[in-house]
Amino acid sequence: MRNTPGNPVRGEDFWDRKDLIEKIWKSLERGSILLIAPRRFGKTSLMLKIHDESKKGWRPIFVDVEGMSAPEEFIVDLLERVAEKQGKSLLEKVRDFLGKIEEVGVENIRIKLRESLKTEWKKRGKDLFRKVLERDIRYIMLIDELPLMLRKFPQKKIAGEFLHWLRSIRQEPEICEKVRWVFGSSIGFHSIIRELGVTSNVINDLQPIPVLELSTKEAERMVREILKEELNIKRIKKEVMNHIFKKIGYPVPFFLQILLCSLITLYKQEGRLTSEIIDKAYTDLLKPWNRSYFEHFRERLEKYYEPQLAEIVKRMLSLIAYKGETSKQELSNFFVGQYQQGAIHLFDLVISDLENDFYISKDKDVYQFTSNVLRDWWIRYYGWRE
Ligand SMILES: Nc1ncnc2c1ncn2[C@@H]1O[C@H](COP(=O)(O)OP(=O)(O)OP(=O)(O)O)[C@@H](O)[C@H]1O
Ligand SMILES: [Mg+2]
Repeated sequence: MRNTPGNPVRGEDFWDRKDLIEKIWKSLERGSILLIAPRRFGKTSLMLKIHDESKKGWRPIFVDVEGMSAPEEFIVDLLERVAEKQGKSLLEKVRDFLGKIEEVGVENIRIKLRESLKTEWKKRGKDLFRKVLERDIRYIMLIDELPLMLRKFPQKKIAGEFLHWLRSIRQEPEICEKVRWVFGSSIGFHSIIRELGVTSNVINDLQPIPVLELSTKEAERMVREILKEELNIKRIKKEVMNHIFKKIGYPVPFFLQILLCSLITLYKQEGRLTSEIIDKAYTDLLKPWNRSYFEHFRERLEKYYEPQLAEIVKRMLSLIAYKGETSKQELSNFFVGQYQQGAIHLFDLVISDLENDFYISKDKDVYQFTSNVLRDWWIRYYGWRE
């Protein structure tokens, strides 16, 4: 297993999260699911794993829909892939759908279908689905980045309708037993639902499955495999391993891999693996050249909230990072002092957003950063100022 922080990992570079994958397959037997995780926790890699090593009896279809901006694009693209997996062109499957199909030609089918779906996409889209799906096959539609697609819709109203439509497809008697859906997204579904002003009913049939940290045992095995592959290190002293996890805290594969990048470079220079080298690697991890790996934690807040509120939320995080632990009362005093009108309701909302998105976690009545790495990064770049 190589150390490859950055893009989704596949094949040998994927650390096999067996328990989680088993859990996903079990849930798929019963219904559709929503992968819940902060950014960079491995959602896309997991979806690709389900796709690449699908269980017998299922036909997986993976689509990253981030670049799309209309229902007809989604429907045609997805169904085109379904047809391709059957070894057929979409044209063959929808021969009678467009009327004078002989005039269309394979190369124009996509354009024609999209045009035909521009009006009445809800009804016609459903009809198309029924037409294209094969009779005795069960499908898993792995859809990545749906909320980003919805944000690109020119009208919020249509984006909301599209979410309702997707739900109705999942409930459709003819379709629901043979099609399961797995949704993953780098931004939370809860935020897009709020943005669009729709009720959470649109996703309440999906079973949420959290994709969080690795267990310590799993994480240790992953570190061992990577250091063996990259540096031919066969044994790692217990104290060194413990030190890695003391520094990194919550073992997220991505954070571990960034640390290992620095560690591998340092080992090549110094030829030893000690706690001191790990400290150095950890300091490197927070250096400006790695800044872009984490910057999305700040950017996301600026996308979620209007500018004044975003500033206050960032300062609140700086306060939590600086203090280590902060009580709910102290945070709410801080927030109300800064925001004034209607602040308490907003405070509760912000706190639950920050918890949902993994910035902070609550232990009894105090809040702290969930990840050491994120906390140290926040202190370094957005440290507390009076
Ligand atoms: N199972 C895994 N094995 C090894 N590395 C992993 C695994 N899962 C995640 N990673 C690490 O995390 C990084 C991000 O993974 P991935 O792109 O799948 O996450 P994501 O949750 O889809 O991110 P985003 O929210 O930004 O779309 C990978 O480049 C890799 O370094
Ligand atoms: Mg992803």
